Amino acid sequence: MKYIIKTFGCQMNVHESEKLSGMLESLGYTNTDNYNDSDVIVFNTCCIRDGVEQKILGNIGALKKLKKKNPNLIIAICGCMSQADGRADLILKKFPFVDIIFGTHNIHKFKEYVQQKLSTNSKIIDVWEKEEGIFEDVEIKRDNFFSNAWVNINFGCNNFCTYCIVPYVRGRERSRLPQDIINECKQLIAEGYKYITLLGQNVNSYGNDLDDPNINFANLLKDCASLDGDFRIKFMTSHPKDLSEDVVKTIATYPKLSKVIHLPIQSGSNDILKSMNRKYTREHYLELISMIRKHIPNAYISTDIIVGFPGETEKDFLDTYSLIEEVRYDGVFAFMYSRRSGTVADKMENQIDEEVKKDRIHKLLELSKRITKEKNKESIGSNMNVIAIENTSDGYKVMSDSGKTIFVDDSLEPNKFYNIQITKFACNKLFAKLVN
Ligand code: SAH
Ligand code: SF4
Ligand code: F3S
Repeated sequence: MKYIIKTFGCQMNVHESEKLSGMLESLGYTNTDNYNDSDVIVFNTCCIRDGVEQKILGNIGALKKLKKKNPNLIIAICGCMSQADGRADLILKKFPFVDIIFGTHNIHKFKEYVQQKLSTNSKIIDVWEKEEGIFEDVEIKRDNFFSNAWVNINFGCNNFCTYCIVPYVRGRERSRLPQDIINECKQLIAEGYKYITLLGQNVNSYGNDLDDPNINFANLLKDCASLDGDFRIKFMTSHPKDLSEDVVKTIATYPKLSKVIHLPIQSGSNDILKSMNRKYTREHYLELISMIRKHIPNAYISTDIIVGFPGETEKDFLDTYSLIEEVRYDGVFAFMYSRRSGTVADKMENQIDEEVKKDRIHKLLELSKRITKEKNKESIGSNMNVIAIENTSDGYKVMSDSGKTIFVDDSLEPNKFYNIQITKFACNKLFAKLVN
């Protein structure tokens, strides 16, 4: 009995697929990468932009011939797209061969759905309208990608940025109890994981929904970083409106906390930020960046940008462009605005032409490529702590906390941390030597 899970979307979904795997393995299924060989195929879907949804629909369509060849094959579709308004009906209508559809609020039920399908052979469509708390004790089969383990800290989102569908498909913010998170981290460290990435749509609002005022993100970071062992804690994502100096000082103080901060700005124009309901200004954001760099001079800062939000003028776009030049990010993830039905921005006038969006995203990508290249050159001589991955023809491959690949001219032990100094940037690759 074999299974395949294909994941679309963010890290949250990647981790949820590990829970789906865990449930299938507890039923006796084993993982395969061959579609022809599998008895269960799961698509864990995303609906953040229309392009992703179209790709998923195409991929589901392609499963038809597999189902024809093997009528016992179970096809399950879950995740954010299944949860979004009307999508379950759409999937069912377009692809009547799909067996199980469920949403984001009931993934812990997946095991039951499979058992029910096997015993009754009837279709199961179960998309819950509302979230129902937090379900601990779900089996997890971890992917162990470069020794990283994902740990949920809060689910859902209360922010309702006007372009975004996440609050509609993930429900309101719910925080896990600190003790549950810490126990999970302890176990992962004991199992040998070197990175633990704490996950939330907005990690900075962790604990806001719990009564105890001492439960907040800074305290959670302190507790995790005080555990015994050789590991690093990472986290994502930070919302600029909630990032406190206390959190930044904590990151600066504890060596086991990665100095990597993903801080999405979305736009550099105050008019657009207001219309996006982001609740901060360009000026406040730039102050945050200075504050971070004051406490953590070597912080790796990345961002998300949306171009072509309704009403974005050339001047608004230039504000975004100049902000990127000013901050000189280590990483920029830029997206073209995509209309999501049910969101406020979908009903706004002044939607922007696709050609204009393409032109703007192209300009941002060129800018960010140039900055990355400049920063790589400037990094020569700087020191870094990295994890050893594997030997390659370019040297021993290591990875920084931010995911940067570097090659060291030495033989290392995999899965251990080393201090290195960057020595060369050539052919778009960074090279380094070991230091103590
Ligand atoms: N919770 C995180 C990430 C949310 S989704 C945060 O608040 O930052 C990841 C990114 O997708 C967002 O940061 C945003 O840049 C982008 N995004 C969200 N909705 C979008 C839309 N409708 N069109 C284009 N990009 C979108
Ligand atoms: Fe979406 Fe905004 Fe929530 Fe992030 S904070 S998930 S962009 S609504
Ligand atoms: Fe996509 Fe859902 Fe994540 S919409 S980006 S998978 S929260």
